[in-house]
Amino acid sequence: MTDHAADNHPPAAAEDHLTDHNYDGIQEYDNPLPGWWVAIFWGSIIWSFLYFGWYHAGPGRGMLDNYSASMSALDEVREAAADRRLSSYGELKPDQATLLALMADEDLMKSQESVWQVRCVACHLGDGRGLVGPNMTDDAYINVKKIEDIVTLVTDGVIAKGMLPFANQLSEREIIMISAYAASLRGKALDPSIAMPAKAAQGEVIPPWPGQ
Ligand code: HEC
Repeated sequence: MTDHAADNHPPAAAEDHLTDHNYDGIQEYDNPLPGWWVAIFWGSIIWSFLYFGWYHAGPGRGMLDNYSASMSALDEVREAAADRRLSSYGELKPDQATLLALMADEDLMKSQESVWQVRCVACHLGDGRGLVGPNMTDDAYINVKKIEDIVTLVTDGVIAKGMLPFANQLSEREIIMISAYAASLRGKALDPSIAMPAKAAQGEVIPPWPGQ
């Protein structure tokens, strides 16, 4: 330590201890780091090992896993709710009362829309305006006199005319649900985003569905 340095700095407290290097008169105390700082330092190092062990090597789930776990839990809840609603109809019967009840269930009809968009869209188009198959939005039907005839028709098809039988592709329950959806298209406004012209009425105009 030079005299110059000693003159310009207040004397260090008794317990302060100077290291022995000296850079152009600049010296350094060798004071211990505060306990809280050292605790955080070692604590975070130890934490990083525990974290790595748990989340990367061990059973801990990452954010993505947590997300997909919650999403599948949500799906289960939704499916259970849909099942409960369906089971409140009891066993689905291919009769008028069942079809009318299903048609009035908006959520169920929404779920059937996606079935329609896969199974029926090719021939009847997305909004049911008809292409190979007849228009479902008008009041005229070829094979249908009563609403429950739709179930028979979707089950057996009209093979000679190009309507597929769905008996071996869908369960009886599924056929009843999609039949209710087909019936619900009657009277619906056409979707303006579909460019194809609606198919002209075929068959005979039949009375409205009961209660509609
Ligand atoms: C491969 C083409 C094709 C597919 C796919 C198809 N249909 Fe059809 N559908 C037809 C044709 C063609 C007719 C007319 C039958 C006739 O002239 O007797 C028809 C008739 C119908 C009728 C009776 C309409 C009437 O006026 O009598 C209903 C109801 C019906 N389809 C519902 C469905 C449903 C529901 C689906 C999907 C699950 C479906 N169709 C899938 C071609 C198809």
